[in-house]
Amino acid sequence: MTPSEFKRRRRQLMRMMGSNSIAILPSAPVAVRNRDVDYHYRPDSDFYYLTGFPESEAVAVLIPGRKHAEYVLFCRESDKKKEMWDGARAGQEGACEQYGADDSFPIGDLNDILPRMLEQCERVFYAMGCNPELDKNLGEWVNGLRNSSRSGLHAPLEFVAVDHYLHDMRLYKSRAEIKAMRTAAKVSSKAHQRAMSACRPGMMEYQLEAEIIHECARLGARFQAYPAIVGGGGNGCVLHYIDNKDELKDGDLVLIDAGCEYDYYASDITRTFPVSGVFSAAQREIYELVLAAQEAAIAQAIPGNHWNDPHQAAVKVVTKGLVELGLLKGSVPKLIKDKAYGKYYVHSTGHWLGMDVHDVGDYKIDGEWRQLEPGMVLTVEPGIYIPKGTRGVAAKWRNIGIRIEDDVLVTKDAPDVLTKDAPKTVEAIESLMGKSPK
Ligand code: GLY
Ligand code: MN
Ligand code: MN
Repeated sequence: MTPSEFKRRRRQLMRMMGSNSIAILPSAPVAVRNRDVDYHYRPDSDFYYLTGFPESEAVAVLIPGRKHAEYVLFCRESDKKKEMWDGARAGQEGACEQYGADDSFPIGDLNDILPRMLEQCERVFYAMGCNPELDKNLGEWVNGLRNSSRSGLHAPLEFVAVDHYLHDMRLYKSRAEIKAMRTAAKVSSKAHQRAMSACRPGMMEYQLEAEIIHECARLGARFQAYPAIVGGGGNGCVLHYIDNKDELKDGDLVLIDAGCEYDYYASDITRTFPVSGVFSAAQREIYELVLAAQEAAIAQAIPGNHWNDPHQAAVKVVTKGLVELGLLKGSVPKLIKDKAYGKYYVHSTGHWLGMDVHDVGDYKIDGEWRQLEPGMVLTVEPGIYIPKGTRGVAAKWRNIGIRIEDDVLVTKDAPDVLTKDAPKTVEAIESLMGKSPK
């Protein structure tokens, strides 16, 4: 992402804020894993979206129309000793020169400087409830200003949820964002191909996870967007199974839900395939049904349709198919009305995708499902799960858990499936797995 992309976003937010206002955006805190060990630092997505600033301990301030500096970045000072341990810091100079801030102060000066900036503004754009320490300080600063009204100082009149504005901006992906998401999707697709090629009965689930992580990291995406799910047999029916510790058995399916993050953008792919490389007849019947539902849902991801249209299309196909297979009994419209498919299809069909895997943005506006528009990216991920304890089903269906998930960009024309390189037809999967040397 170029500096001009971040600048454009700041300008867009400042235009919406108008004059006499201030936006305050802290980055994420460092998370401790255990004694002396932190999790790898990942900035807050809203903060990074506006700044492109990757370091911890930073707060961005935007004051549209302020003569001296509209964009002020509080961040760590340069410190040669610390930099020798942990790597370079931008410091105040880098904040301005590399990251486009008009002015920058050490983060330690925030409590002295920010209250004075607040004093000049009527509206404060701030995401309350995300950073308890800053929430508390902000409350104290505003109270301090209220209590000093007799000395001519004035406190802001209004607090506005800045996240609401940012989340709407983040929902519409720019060309640069689409490029990053396409790369993330391609890298993850390659990783799924590699897992399919490597899979053998007797391997452990974590060994397939290792294939995924290796391929992503090798291609420049060191981090997964979420912990990989690799579930063989009945584990494929546990929606958030991340133990990945069991053996993969001949005759079982394996479900892999994994996607890398590339340049701060997520991908999210699920593929389900036979451990042996060949689907059994029963597995194939359920698989073809989930695939048909997924394709029907993807076809609905077009401008003018509503958020829920892909889900409804998937539900229709799944319900009809489950009746044909004898897994549901009754009339299809009534079964849909009663949500009978929920016995096997327990989640909805997708979510927004972007910097966060379950990305931001409203799904409903004024109580109505939102219309899909070009530039939005969503996942389409129907599934059917028949765990071993399921009552009233023939033994052949048990331990089948199948989900197929792609990342779809809404365009003015046909839906653009960003993850299309990950094989998903029965023929494509069996052919790829059949080609790998045994
Ligand atoms: N990987 C999380 C999800 O599919 O929503
Ligand atoms: Mn998903
Ligand atoms: Mn997923």
